[in-house]
Amino acid sequence: MLILTASDIRDITRHIGLEQFINRATASLKQDFGRWDSYCLSPRYATYFPQGVIELMPCSDNEFYTFKYVNGHPGNVLNGKLSVAAIGQISDAGNGYPLMLCDMTLLTAIRTAATSMLAASYLARSTAKSLAVIGTGAQAEFQTVGFAGNYALEKIFYFDIDSGAMVKYARNLAGLSLDLIPCGSILEAVHGADIVTTATAAKHRQMLFGLQEIAPGTHINAIGGDCPGKTELPAQLLRQVKLVVEYTPQSLIEGEIQQGDAGLIHAELAELVCGTKIGRDNNREITLFDSVGFALEDFSILRIVYKLVTEFKFGTEIAMLPEVEDPKDLFGFLAS
Ligand SMILES: NC(=O)c1ccc[n+]([C@@H]2O[C@H](COP(=O)([O-])OP(=O)(O)OC[C@H]3O[C@@H](n4cnc5c(N)ncnc54)[C@H](O)[C@@H]3O)[C@@H](O)[C@H]2O)c1
Repeated sequence: MLILTASDIRDITRHIGLEQFINRATASLKQDFGRWDSYCLSPRYATYFPQGVIELMPCSDNEFYTFKYVNGHPGNVLNGKLSVAAIGQISDAGNGYPLMLCDMTLLTAIRTAATSMLAASYLARSTAKSLAVIGTGAQAEFQTVGFAGNYALEKIFYFDIDSGAMVKYARNLAGLSLDLIPCGSILEAVHGADIVTTATAAKHRQMLFGLQEIAPGTHINAIGGDCPGKTELPAQLLRQVKLVVEYTPQSLIEGEIQQGDAGLIHAELAELVCGTKIGRDNNREITLFDSVGFALEDFSILRIVYKLVTEFKFGTEIAMLPEVEDPKDLFGFLAS
């Protein structure tokens, strides 16, 4: 069984380049969302704690079975820990044997950026020239690199309630010749932006901005509201936008849409990919991708990472399971 640590994922990312990695993951997601009926799908299994949530996210087709273990603890950063940390596994569906166990903290950020790119390809104006990033924590640079690689962005406005996070964001992206504009408020950042990505972490109902604060034609990519009682946008906004989710049964519990009802959902992402529903159909409508993170996204990135590591020989092969000559003689393994 192959083990990939965060350092291995970092090495793979450096090897391919982050922008390329996000684009590869987007292509893989497009393929995988395009064969929606080939999976065993379910909402994730979430266990709630006063401080956050721990979730198990399984997904499978006839070839692979995957799962991710992931947490969401917004207060962790005050204790020097990530808000979102994850581990995932891919197994051979034919015999049930695990193939690879790996850090998915970085992969979650990469697949989330890739999912945002896939949704935006149907929902944002392809001519978008400006991006607003609200919440410049762990996910923010991945989102920014994704959007900057897919749109001819002239300006990137950003805001966080933590000025240290804004400094960190600017420092990390300094080498990319992007026009990064720090803002003093959310409203200043979103004013006139063609795409707004919200990636805030707070375990309560936030109202980052209302419809009147954004321009016609804006695409909102909302990734931060992903848990019951944890939302980023006002309920009234949901009724006035074209709203797309990943998987309705899960989004109704966890997404912005937990504040509304299924009738407000225009489409699931797979319907846009499969062409059964259309995304944006004019330059003035406001679109919202209400993302919570879905197990198929982890399946998709685990599938391509497994292919990459076997091709380029990353990671460490370990004998995790008992290796026995006679599969009926497990007891004999004790004496071996
Ligand atoms: N949809 C998905 O697939 C997906 C994937 C990963 C993470 N997430 C969610 O995205 C959010 C961000 O994750 P992260 O890893 O970057 O967390 P993080 O804790 O590293 O960063 C969150 C940032 O939001 C800022 N913030 C909080 N409230 C704010 C406000 N009102 N205005 C501006 N900034 C504010 C915080 O100061 C912090 O810098 C989390 O809620 C996480 O659960 C969703």
